[in-house]
Amino acid sequence: MSDASGQADIDLRGLAEFTANPYPYYEKMRAVGPVHTVRTDEFERVWLVVGYEEARATLSDPRFTKDWRSLPGAPEVDPIFLNMLELDAPHHTRLRKLVAREFTARRVESLRPRVQEITDGLLDAMVPAGRADLVDALAFPLPMTVICELIGVPHLDRDRFRGLSNEVVSPTSPEQEAEAVRIMGEYLRELIDDKRRSPGDDLMSALVRTRDEEGDRLSFDELMGMAFLLLVAGHETTVNLIANGVRALLDHPDQLAALRDDPGLTGGAVEEMLRYDGPVENATFRFAREDIPMGRRIIPAGAPVLVSLAGADRDGGRYPEPGTFDIRREPQGHLAFGHGLHFCVGAPLARMEGRIAIRSLLERCPGLALDTEADREPDWIPGMLIRGARGLPVRW
Ligand code: HEM
Repeated sequence: MSDASGQADIDLRGLAEFTANPYPYYEKMRAVGPVHTVRTDEFERVWLVVGYEEARATLSDPRFTKDWRSLPGAPEVDPIFLNMLELDAPHHTRLRKLVAREFTARRVESLRPRVQEITDGLLDAMVPAGRADLVDALAFPLPMTVICELIGVPHLDRDRFRGLSNEVVSPTSPEQEAEAVRIMGEYLRELIDDKRRSPGDDLMSALVRTRDEEGDRLSFDELMGMAFLLLVAGHETTVNLIANGVRALLDHPDQLAALRDDPGLTGGAVEEMLRYDGPVENATFRFAREDIPMGRRIIPAGAPVLVSLAGADRDGGRYPEPGTFDIRREPQGHLAFGHGLHFCVGAPLARMEGRIAIRSLLERCPGLALDTEADREPDWIPGMLIRGARGLPVRW
């Protein structure tokens, strides 16, 4: 980190320690001011909001746009990115309304027995071995199976899809990202054609059939964007809720013991996991539509802005002793699912999956511990979007 005045760009390029543990960096920045400009591996200059109040306000401020295409000189965007997360009202409103009804608390509740059944099946396979990589054995296959069944792609080649999806949220190079987007596009095109030919009792078939109030169908590109967003957002995040959450427990044996002794604490523990080390480190890009004063600085019109959810949720002004992992804290108002119009549609589902996974895991593996024999430096996911590691070796 280069500067303490809050005025010069902070250089975050190539910092392995930042990827491994970004929290001290966000803390130092927050001590100076709520918003900074940073240089990252991907971007020359990005505005980064690290204060809780400013982060929350930015997420619901219509002076920021999500729509790349509204920017002067914006590059062509692959239609796959034409999804609600990258659009503003009224286009966003229309797309969101179509899926929101699938993710209400009631609808999600009806999935509970199946989520439990999938979890039990994964644990049945995992437990006899006495040790496992928790990401491979539970944290990845659980949300992936759930979202595939919900969308209607039960036979998706999940390992292949996992590789492509990882590349999109945390690209190794622009070329490889473009190739992953191309292959995924081809796959989704086939999927939509298939659902048109032989619709089933699933979300994608329902969306293919849907007409909005004006009577026009979702376009092919809109269907592609929706399928892409749901498949990627539906698992890349929840895998890290489970894995980061379990890592936090293993790093804090007193909290692990308290939760094991009283499973009634699971709901609150999952909220604290989301606050303490949530899966989305920084929200997706927003752009200032006009000059916007923040703290002692002015974010200029057209500037790209990242809201640091990880930074905000460790703001001592909002959460006393923010670096302490306390499963009884009840961290209301945390920003792990975002805030405002783009607040996570999948939050009720993610919460349910997280609670079932953590509770069932501790029931079946009460002696859960880090597998110190397999101990190695975690393979942290690069980039500033997703917070987590590619594996978590455990034994019991
Ligand atoms: C623990 C798990 C999850 C976390 C932490 C999470 C986090 C987030 C965040 C922070 C946003 C807003 C991003 C922004 O404003 O830039 C978001 C949006 C979204 N999430 Fe999630 N998510 C999770 C699970 C899921 C699941 C399971 C699904 C789908 C089944 C899902 C679907 C979506 C969708 C569709 C949006 C876009 C909403 C919009 O633009 O209106 N998420 N999520």
